[in-house]
Amino acid sequence: MAEIRKVGVVGLGTMGAGIAQVCVEAGVDTLGREISGELAERARGRIDHFLGRKVEKGQLAQEAKDAAMARLSLTTELADFADCDLVIEAAFEDLTVKHELFRELSAVVRLDAILATNTSALSVTEIAAAAVHPERVVGMHFFNPAPLMALVEIVRAQQTEASVVETAYAFAQRLGKEPIRCNDTPGFVVNRILIPLLNDCVRVLDEAGVTPEDLDKAMRFGAGWPMGPCTLVDLVGLDVHVHASEALWQSLREPRMAAPPRIVGMADAGYLGRKTGRGFYEYEA
Ligand code: CAA
Repeated sequence: MAEIRKVGVVGLGTMGAGIAQVCVEAGVDTLGREISGELAERARGRIDHFLGRKVEKGQLAQEAKDAAMARLSLTTELADFADCDLVIEAAFEDLTVKHELFRELSAVVRLDAILATNTSALSVTEIAAAAVHPERVVGMHFFNPAPLMALVEIVRAQQTEASVVETAYAFAQRLGKEPIRCNDTPGFVVNRILIPLLNDCVRVLDEAGVTPEDLDKAMRFGAGWPMGPCTLVDLVGLDVHVHASEALWQSLREPRMAAPPRIVGMADAGYLGRKTGRGFYEYEA
């Protein structure tokens, strides 16, 4: 099995920065790419903040944090991924954007490198189709927040070679995660179940005339959820949730998959949850 010594992460938003954090904490040299130096530095600041909190809480030694931060390098150039053994793409959820990236990455990386996508809503098979070697493409779907959530879905596209699935699986384990293998079906495993469930929760808000606070309370204390559904949608991002719902609705046509008008309206208004300071709840900047 190919050894993964250096990882590239394309896109350092919430998911990409979280994935890069997990990699450097696990001792893997990691190169992160953003479209501007400013966005890249913002991601470094975010990783530095979360590792700093671990030091303050006595969960991580200062030297271990410094060593982890030293393993992180940043770039704005895809060409710099030439020596990466694995590149994880966590860019904007748009097939055209991903096709462009996979075409460019294919031209840059070694023939034996693995290209992974963290897509949650698009077909890995369709993304892989743009790569020169689609058999080297696999889904590695992390969950938000990536440093805290143990699951990684290792998604086999139609084209993925079995050895690539196994290398990605073993790498997720090396990151301290709990991977599972699954087919490239809409929503894979968790989102296929969680997205319609969250849509039901939002519908219940109006049907039962309940406040977001009380709905969250209901699911935390009545169903044992670690956080309530409104808090969770705010964390995931209303835009991400609506997009994932749309993708499931497009492929499966089940009414529960479609995002309820209430949440679409909020997303249209720019109330995207934590990242914009307002969703079901308000957050400090
Ligand atoms: N990145 C890195 N570190 C983070 C972080 C982040 N995004 N968010 C929080 N942390 C760190 C913080 O430093 C925090 O400590 P401080 O607040 O003291 O600084 C530390 O983690 C612990 O945070 P919490 O005390 O809030 O941890 P918790 O015990 O309350 O658990 C949780 C938090 C793990 C998120 C838990 O609430 C949970 O499991 N929630 C459910 C989340 C979930 O379902 N995610 C899946 C979303 S769906 C998805 O992702 C799929 C998709 O494709 C859309």
